[in-house]
Amino acid sequence: MENLLEIRNLKITTLRGKQSVRLLDKVDLNIAKKRSFGIVGESGCGKSITANAILGLLPYPLRVAEGSIRYDSKAGERELLQLSKKELREVRGQEISMIFQEPMTSLDPIFTVEMQMYEALSFHHPGLARGEMRDRALEMLRRVNIPRPEQTLTSYPHQLSGGQLQRIMIAIALINDPRLLLADEPTTALDVTIQAQILRLMNDLKEQNDTSIIMITHDLGVIAETCEEVAVFYAGQVVEQANVVELFGQTAHPYTLGLLRAVTSLGGESRKLYTIPGIVPPGGQWAQGCRFADRCEKCMEKCRQAMPALTEVVPGHLCRCFLHSEEVEQ
Ligand SMILES: Nc1ncnc2c1ncn2[C@@H]1O[C@H](COP(=O)(O)OP(=O)(O)O)[C@@H](O)[C@H]1O
Ligand code: SF4
Ligand SMILES: [Mg+2]
Repeated sequence: MENLLEIRNLKITTLRGKQSVRLLDKVDLNIAKKRSFGIVGESGCGKSITANAILGLLPYPLRVAEGSIRYDSKAGERELLQLSKKELREVRGQEISMIFQEPMTSLDPIFTVEMQMYEALSFHHPGLARGEMRDRALEMLRRVNIPRPEQTLTSYPHQLSGGQLQRIMIAIALINDPRLLLADEPTTALDVTIQAQILRLMNDLKEQNDTSIIMITHDLGVIAETCEEVAVFYAGQVVEQANVVELFGQTAHPYTLGLLRAVTSLGGESRKLYTIPGIVPPGGQWAQGCRFADRCEKCMEKCRQAMPALTEVVPGHLCRCFLHSEEVEQ
């Protein structure tokens, strides 16, 4: 496989009563090896369910209705959607790790940091002696810049700050040298200074480890700091995709332009400059034409009648908007 991960025609549905409702529609993504790929969009656009589908973690009644997620594992090419629970658990943690917005969803308040790090390690390396586990845990804590790592090992989560917990979560996610790290809003709950530090740390770790990263965020500022390639999600679809320089320099989709105007500055004070008027239509309640039509300043008559196709504006830059192509989604 050329890429590390290839998502094709991914459709996710849920049940409302007895009715099947679409939440994600025909998403195609290629995650290259040793690259960082951003998924950006407002809340409710389908970012987290995409990440959860990759790891087989969709909660019932959500399910993958169609599509394929191929992964180039150490043991050869795998179709992640066809793995058993046991096989998925092996891939998770060892080859693909995930970090979430809330460290406490992954850390257990009743165990020390040490016990949680050893558990992650021993799950994939059952033969390790305690001394070896301790060395590895300390090394990881140092790499994520935890001050006083020995003392931190014996701490409980409530004794540590939000920024430290997020670093520990990153340390645990990286302890088995994963090839792919899925980071779902890893810094959203943190203040901007710590946020900038954690993003810098993730960049450094990526350089050192050759790990690919999928960075999920609602903030294009975070994408600018960390990603090489980016897909913009809106209402369960990709509406624009390009490398970061192209996306910021030649922004094509009106939705992406709105997100750009809404960027909060990293490192400095957090300012909300602008919010796009209106709300993301909920899953399944999509109009037949362009899903952004109700909120778009450039909306034309045809935008309400047909859905624009995702087409190439210039090589490598995709956009789903009638301002750039007449092509209709079939
Ligand atoms: N457990 C769930 N049950 C029902 N609907 C869900 C569930 N999780 C997510 N959704 C719906 O799926 C859509 C995409 O959600 P999500 O992927 O969480 O968005 P994002 O991460 O982009 O904020 C939303 O319409 C959301 O309401
Ligand atoms: S297709 Fe029309 S409504 Fe949709 S983003 Fe483009 S201009 Fe706006
Ligand atoms: Mg989310």
